[in-house]
Amino acid sequence: MKRTYIDKLREHVGEEVLISGWVDVRRDQGKLVFFDFRDMTGKVQGVVLPASPAMEIAKGIRDEFVVTVRGKINERPEKNKQADRLNGGVELEILEITILNGAEPMPFDIHSDTREVNEEVRLKYRYLDLRSERMQKNIRMRDKIISFFRDYMHRNNFVEIETPMLMKGTPEGSREYVVPSRLHAGKFYVLPQSPQQFKQLSMVASFERYFQIARCMRDEDQRGDRQPEFTQLDFEMSFVEREDILSYTEEMFIELVKKLYPEKKISETPFPRITYKESIEKYGSDKPDLRKDKNDANELAFAWIVDFPMFEKTKDGEIQAAHHPFCAINPEDKENFMSGEDIFSIRANSYDLVLNGYELSSGSIRIHQEAEQKRVFELLNISEEEQQKKFGHMLSAFKFGAPPHGGFAPGIDRIVMLLQGEPNIREVIAFPKTGEGKDLMMDAPAEISDKQLKEVGIKIIK
Ligand code: AMO
Repeated sequence: MKRTYIDKLREHVGEEVLISGWVDVRRDQGKLVFFDFRDMTGKVQGVVLPASPAMEIAKGIRDEFVVTVRGKINERPEKNKQADRLNGGVELEILEITILNGAEPMPFDIHSDTREVNEEVRLKYRYLDLRSERMQKNIRMRDKIISFFRDYMHRNNFVEIETPMLMKGTPEGSREYVVPSRLHAGKFYVLPQSPQQFKQLSMVASFERYFQIARCMRDEDQRGDRQPEFTQLDFEMSFVEREDILSYTEEMFIELVKKLYPEKKISETPFPRITYKESIEKYGSDKPDLRKDKNDANELAFAWIVDFPMFEKTKDGEIQAAHHPFCAINPEDKENFMSGEDIFSIRANSYDLVLNGYELSSGSIRIHQEAEQKRVFELLNISEEEQQKKFGHMLSAFKFGAPPHGGFAPGIDRIVMLLQGEPNIREVIAFPKTGEGKDLMMDAPAEISDKQLKEVGIKIIK
């Protein structure tokens, strides 16, 4: 007999069916044994009647056993119907149960809101945590959001391009993960902090509209809204100005909310625009929370923050790019840019999108001319030799008809977290790391064998 998915059982009243899935709950009432069975489409109640040949096996089954069940779909008596639930009007009369696999008692109650459970235990048994209803919803909504973005981008003539995971460093402010090379012992790749350089080079390659659901890796200290690996909706467009990127993004987010979260309301459209300077002065932050009612779970307060400074001082008093060195300079600040005067007053043509007090996305119009790019490097005290070594490929590309371009990179994890009303991004990532950057399920990072170390020419100093 062919398997029927649980959400289709209603169509089979009076018929015999075969279902497969997990025992969500078993309730032994002596003469009768009740079950809730669960598959990816939902749940159904089953009952083993006293004379059923399945009774003996039913007595030995526990929660989370994997089973195949043959049974008959019966209409429930009127008084037992639960109109608001899937299969609330029907019940499966169990004729035969086959156990496909057993299950030990769960290390925690997966029917509860597992946010209450010790997080180390949840992460060690993530595959069980993910069985809980809330986590299933989060991960499935994440998929819907990503599909929405992919579709929206394709509808607007963007092409998805996969960019390398093994590359040379990008100077985006974070520490990079390094990967030793076996074929070139003593040399290293780094993992991308973002596809920034590749997306700009895709513009030089004349694609005009690039996007990627991009995995990014950063070896930085963790927080509730940060993970060492995360995902961006990374995109870049040619022949655009700031206004084009802002309006494209704004329309996309409005449509996303309308389609997938119709119960939520956006506090203000068009999204308010605030300069970085105003935001710091007025709210003491460059990611102000502009919700009118912070207790309203359905309020979404988007805002644009524009005109960030191009340069900032590091803790050691050195100068660095506030976003990254590829941002174009605000045309009004060109004079100081050329003279090098009052350098911290120079603004980049950059912008952030914030939502309910979180930075959702950053981007900018980019430099597309060699001379301007070299001037930025110069102001960052990067020597000519170093410029060629680190960024020779970018400087060279700008010599071959690089179009004006700009882009943006909304962080998918933060978007899903805020839309799902979760307190941190670990709740919307299937297999996240702990605050210390560990994978407790696999126990990573881990040591590697001496043979592997030798192959890549690495000696560990203990
Ligand atoms: P930026 O570094 O600002 O810009 O990152 C863009 C967005 O990515 C998300 N994000 C993170 N999410 C989870 N964990 C992290 N550790 C993390 N770091 C960043 C945030 C953030 O707003 N290449 C540029 C973009 C551009 O200029 O187009 C970039 O990566 O939501």
